Amino acid sequence: MGDGVEFQTHGSIALITLNNPPVNAMGVAVRQGIADAIAKAEADGTIKAIILTGRGRCFCGGADIREFGKPREEPFLTNLINQIEICETPVVAAIHGSAVGGGCEISLGCHYRVGDASAKFGLPEIKLGLLPGAGGTQRLPRLVGIAPALDIILSGDYVGAQMGRELGFFDEIIDGDLVEGALDYANGLVAGGKGARRTRELTIDGSGAEKIFADMRAKVARRSRGLIAPERCIEAVESALTISLDEGLALERKNFDELVQSDQSKAQRHLFFAERQAHKIPGVPADTPVREIKSAAVIGCGTMGRGIAMSLANGGVPVTVLEVSKDSLDTGLALTRDTYAGSVSRGSLAQGDMDARLGRITGTTDYADIADADIVIEAVFEDMDLKKQIFGTLDATCKPGAILATNTSTLDVDEIAAATKRPADVIGTHFFSPANVMKLMENVRGGKTAPDVIATVMKLSKDIGKVGVMVGVCDGFVGNRMLYAYKNQAEFLLEEGALPRQVDKVIYDFGFPMGPFAMGDLAGLDVSYLIRQHRRATIPSDDRTSIIPDRIYEMGRHGQKSREGYYLYHEGSRVAVPDPEIEKLIVGISGELGIERREISDREILERCLYPLINEGANILGEGIASRPSDVDLVWIYGYGFPIGRGGPMFHADLVGAKEIYEVMKKLHDAHGDMLKPAPLLEELAKSGKSFADLQS
Ligand code: 3HC
Ligand code: NAI
Repeated sequence: MGDGVEFQTHGSIALITLNNPPVNAMGVAVRQGIADAIAKAEADGTIKAIILTGRGRCFCGGADIREFGKPREEPFLTNLINQIEICETPVVAAIHGSAVGGGCEISLGCHYRVGDASAKFGLPEIKLGLLPGAGGTQRLPRLVGIAPALDIILSGDYVGAQMGRELGFFDEIIDGDLVEGALDYANGLVAGGKGARRTRELTIDGSGAEKIFADMRAKVARRSRGLIAPERCIEAVESALTISLDEGLALERKNFDELVQSDQSKAQRHLFFAERQAHKIPGVPADTPVREIKSAAVIGCGTMGRGIAMSLANGGVPVTVLEVSKDSLDTGLALTRDTYAGSVSRGSLAQGDMDARLGRITGTTDYADIADADIVIEAVFEDMDLKKQIFGTLDATCKPGAILATNTSTLDVDEIAAATKRPADVIGTHFFSPANVMKLMENVRGGKTAPDVIATVMKLSKDIGKVGVMVGVCDGFVGNRMLYAYKNQAEFLLEEGALPRQVDKVIYDFGFPMGPFAMGDLAGLDVSYLIRQHRRATIPSDDRTSIIPDRIYEMGRHGQKSREGYYLYHEGSRVAVPDPEIEKLIVGISGELGIERREISDREILERCLYPLINEGANILGEGIASRPSDVDLVWIYGYGFPIGRGGPMFHADLVGAKEIYEVMKKLHDAHGDMLKPAPLLEELAKSGKSFADLQS
């Protein structure tokens, strides 16, 4: 039956099984196999119903993404789905695990859908910068209605069995063995004389459609600024109301072909594979055993500790939070409850889920209560002596085999590990604020961290819905080290002639959620001041630093929290309002430094902020702190809001060209000295005509 598709008969039922590990993706061979199997069943007069199912971990993960960008080969998925839909013999999709992308679309072409309790469906194409290209935008609204279909298509999120049944996607949820249940279901159809039931023949209820589309457009404008795929999705779903299914399929295909060639989709496909590649870690073979994580503890219930505890609880891991006193514990737990309650009142979390999650979080002030935890994550103040003392206590208290992790954002993980007699069990798990929301876990392997500890923490990242990236020890790790390079230049631009609002606008227009100064105000200028003080005390450097941030901090302006920072913030508002006083201060500082202010173009601002950031990424890669360029991209996409449609700094660098960036860095180096010295790796790529993608492993 061709590669990856099996054909069997069970009495008058044909059973077609996808068998193309790992996820039954529908490459050309699988598509051909299904087409042949359907034709064979249709031609056999004894076959009264057909079941389409999948072997292995899921029904089907969709089209084979690795084929995108290559010439399309027949049979096309759209035609295959039409072939199934027009069958006279009823076709039942029997779904376990995921039926997503093309896998969902093929089940929409089937006449009936049953699933087991693990079944879920969805159209994640938007996450690849695409729209569903094999009928999803046409058939899903016909089957479940416009509003749910739009939500599913525009979020890319998956819908579970129960909700799928309520929406009318699943006709039945089967207890017990799926194939046996599907055979019973199919035999029941035959016995009941039920024939083909085609999704294309359903009519869409268009009532209220205008408002639904307008609301969705407004939502997309807020959430997906700069991305082209969402509007193409909306357009295609909208067309389902006004044109025939076949015309709709043609429009959908046109949009798909346009998007698949776009840099945005290439960037998002790059990120899809990057997330999976990040789990392949040098020195940690795929078969490295992992330690079981059945319970966790978090030390410190401050800003980060609370977010980390919620992340674990949200991912199903029971967690005990340890604080220094009963009072701070009570405050921390009350704030945790408030955060969940806020989600419930905004409608993004069900009360039952809040209760279940909160139920997994308990508090203590006694180390004896965390002695049995499988992993402990420390999130106390950023103070080396305090952290060493805590790791000493953990060493003395925790059971053998427990993983001891630190959330430090700047301190040396090896020095912390040396405070224990078990440095092989110590690792960094650097979450980003707010930790219950931000997806990145920048995990830091120390010099002595054991491979199974690395494998376990990377698995834990995935299990709790985070994107894990493993990096090595250096000042600032990957993310913050690149951030320093970027922020330094943004500050120098102020001294040389730019104003915060000009720099921030350029960065915002590039696609970041905000520029470096608005970001500084949000994070707190007191926090960055303390980090600078610590760095100055511990890392002597001759590098130029700007005096502007210190001056602003010394004025008592701590950012949004004090309603004054680089900008002004009116009571109850987060809108950054330019402040003439700060602009005067900046101009005055230029005078003090003897710098003649000049007109600085938007292009210079962008290059001056981004290229040093990319250059630092190249240094990090050259030093082996990150394993591959795509790991650096993930850190910046999921930790720092680098625009998703640009694929991360190293992917973006390849679009611009290493040579071009190297030439600009050389000029910046000549003008500003060694802190802007081109990275040896960047120079090598520029001179050899290679790209960062060529280094990808
Ligand atoms: N094409 C090619 N490879 C795929 C794939 C796909 N559609 N889906 C997953 N894979 C690969 C992954 O790259 C990974 O490869 P690796 O082991 O070499 O790193 C392997 O399959 C396993 O993937 P996961 O680690 O993600 O496995 P999980 O079991 O955790 O999850 C899944 C399985 C839920 C199916 C998840 O892979 C997923 O959500 N995939 C989304 C796929 C997707 O976006 N599909 C839409 C494709 S576009 C499309 O169908 C176009 C159509 O509209 C015309
Ligand atoms: P925070 O000041 O909000 O919270 C620290 C908490 O630790 C406080 O609740 C304090 O009572 C508790 N604590 C202090 N000493 C303790 C002890 N001996 N035992 C138990 N609890 C103790 O600090 P925040 O912002 O949560 O930072 C924590 C760690 O996370 C730091 O290492 C920081 O560098 C790191 N980090 C912070 C980020 C941020 O944006 N705030 C981002 C990423 C990492």
